[in-house]
Amino acid sequence: MAYTSLLAQIPESYFGKTMGRKVTHGPLPLINLAVGIPDADTPQRILDALTEAIVKPENQKYLAFQGKTHFKEAIVSFYQRHFGVTLDPETEVCLLYGTKNGLVALPTCVIEPGDEVLLPDPGYTDYEAGVHLAHGVPKRLKLSPEQHYLPNWDAVDTSDTKLIYLTYPNNPTGSVATPEFFQQTIDHFRGTPTKIVHDFAYQAFGFDAPNPSILAAKGAKDVAVEVFSFSKGYNMSGYRVGFAVGNAEIIANLQKYHTHTQAGMYGALQDACTVALNECDDTLVQQSEVFRRRRDMIEDVLTKHHIPHEPIKGGIFLWLQCPPNMSSDDFITYLLQEQSILAAPGHPFGEEGEGYVRVSFAIDEQQLDEALKRLATLELLYQA
Ligand SMILES: Cc1ncc(COP(=O)(O)O)c(C=O)c1O
Repeated sequence: MAYTSLLAQIPESYFGKTMGRKVTHGPLPLINLAVGIPDADTPQRILDALTEAIVKPENQKYLAFQGKTHFKEAIVSFYQRHFGVTLDPETEVCLLYGTKNGLVALPTCVIEPGDEVLLPDPGYTDYEAGVHLAHGVPKRLKLSPEQHYLPNWDAVDTSDTKLIYLTYPNNPTGSVATPEFFQQTIDHFRGTPTKIVHDFAYQAFGFDAPNPSILAAKGAKDVAVEVFSFSKGYNMSGYRVGFAVGNAEIIANLQKYHTHTQAGMYGALQDACTVALNECDDTLVQQSEVFRRRRDMIEDVLTKHHIPHEPIKGGIFLWLQCPPNMSSDDFITYLLQEQSILAAPGHPFGEEGEGYVRVSFAIDEQQLDEALKRLATLELLYQA
């Protein structure tokens, strides 16, 4: 059977298609810089909590659909401690089986069919699927390097926009938001029909300043929800846990949606993630330090070899401009054949992504060092 008309509207997921695919490369050993998850293991404390939780009888059965009280309280206390944001655990928190799940469900929970949704370009690729599934109309929110990939709302027509996706630290560009930007955003949309979702998947990775929560902006809960993931900061991408917090109306819609699509979240996951939030702040600090060190290594080499690149302020990716006269696909092929480096082309991240490639630094420092030696040889290509 062909795809249904609804699914046919949704572009194939580039990463779904290519993940795990066998690649052919040049003579050097392959270095995979296309990965999108940090390379370390889940902290032992979280594994121990999970092991203990698996055998608990209460976790073998259906639980309260909206989640265990102690998990929701841990979320509330995490937001208070890190961002000074006060949340109501019952009305302003919704658990998600992976943030991807919530991000794709959100348009169905916020917009009416035919409504317009702005998606960052370049930006994370999966938001668009959610817009189509809700019969919405995706529109590009063009982000440019000149503006550090932050939108200037006065220059964007949002008169017909019902929902805007933002994500900082940004995948793929490595740009970050400031508290001032979030306050301007909230001030601009407060009292309008436009709602905001801030995808905070890379919260832990802020290299020159801690990453702000959009909910810390004054009035934010009138307009915005924020989506937090355990995947990157705590090295837990396989567990599929995240949550949405903020605007109570959106959260109520998300909760209703999830009571029909999931019968609550596995209790052992909730117990393990409670320990992550309550006891593993040091993991987040270490994670950021490890990636900051790698960021410094990359920027040193690229600067020394006059290779143009966007400054990496947060996240786990370098957004590298292609050499003159090379498309993203040409450059990916070159890197694979000549340098045995696998990277991701820029175009799956949107029209603005053409002319760039995304290079992950979620690899150990020895491999990164080798990758940088190879990347340094690109200097000549940029002078062509
Ligand atoms: C920007 C962004 N948001 C959300 C996700 C999804 O993360 P999760 O594992 O929580 O579904 C990813 C995963 O790569 C991401 O890069």
